[in-house]
Amino acid sequence: MDTIRPVRKAIIPVAGNGTRFLPATKAMPKEMLTIVDRPVVQYALDEARQAGIEHIVFVTGRNKQAIQDHFDDAPELISSLSRSGKDAQVSELEAMLPAAGTVSFTRQQAPLGLGHAVWCARDLIGDEPFALLLPDMICHGPRGCMAGLMDLYGSTGGNVVGVEQCAPEEASKYGIVGKGHTVPHGFAVTEMVEKPKQGEAPSNFFLNGRYILQPEIFGFLARQQRGAGNEIQLTDSMLKLSQTQPFHAHPYAGRTFDCGSKQGFIEANVAFALARPDIGGMVFESVRDMVLSHQGRIHAA
Ligand code: UTP
Repeated sequence: MDTIRPVRKAIIPVAGNGTRFLPATKAMPKEMLTIVDRPVVQYALDEARQAGIEHIVFVTGRNKQAIQDHFDDAPELISSLSRSGKDAQVSELEAMLPAAGTVSFTRQQAPLGLGHAVWCARDLIGDEPFALLLPDMICHGPRGCMAGLMDLYGSTGGNVVGVEQCAPEEASKYGIVGKGHTVPHGFAVTEMVEKPKQGEAPSNFFLNGRYILQPEIFGFLARQQRGAGNEIQLTDSMLKLSQTQPFHAHPYAGRTFDCGSKQGFIEANVAFALARPDIGGMVFESVRDMVLSHQGRIHAA
């Protein structure tokens, strides 16, 4: 078996328009929308670091300066908090900050699609396997999804994708993989289909926005034509790569929320708030009361 090369770098693409979240995203990046009290993009960075990633490449674009500022030092804020004795907040802000030299930013001048965004990071990644985390897909569970992908990759090498099961009638909304033989931490992927027609999905395992890819993907991305939505699609190049390299899938044990959609974003806020020791109890009572009163109104109508 070929040597399995370590995964040291991750790409986090943040250059999309976030049109599904307008008008909130008119002047603010959708990756800075907050889940409880942290921006969406912070969750992806934390998950990558938890999985042992050493260097993050952000692919950024127009109107995304707030993301760079979020991961930068804030000396005036820190001294003001220190003067007020808010030491816990100072420690929290300092712990969030990536170590010097462990984050790079490159630019996608126009949002031509996820495949194009990944290709924009090619020089910073170089000739090595890399992780890819879509920041608007937020994983909620005892362990980050990327750590599970690393476990699987450690035994199979090649390319690895994160998957989760959806209701069969929902499969046409997602990228779906076919399930082959079982391996430790996952299974072999037999096929990949982007948004299959109703009743034609090979399984109900959908791609949840977590990937480990070999650098040969960049060669396919360089030549990739526009696909669905007139965008350069990552899945189209992954399909070509799968003709020559193995793909395996890791079923995530937690739940992934699509925070690029309004419903997923609200659900993520509720799920993360319920799990928080400081506010979980109050949020539970409040949500329960709202649901009961809503049900009451429906029955009365
Ligand atoms: P999405 O397709 O969910 O983001 O891409 P979007 O295009 O911003 O969303 P809508 O459909 O317009 O609402 C997943 C991730 O890939 C990034 C996005 O910023 C998001 O984090 N992305 C997408 C890019 O960096 N560049 C692109 O051209 C497209």
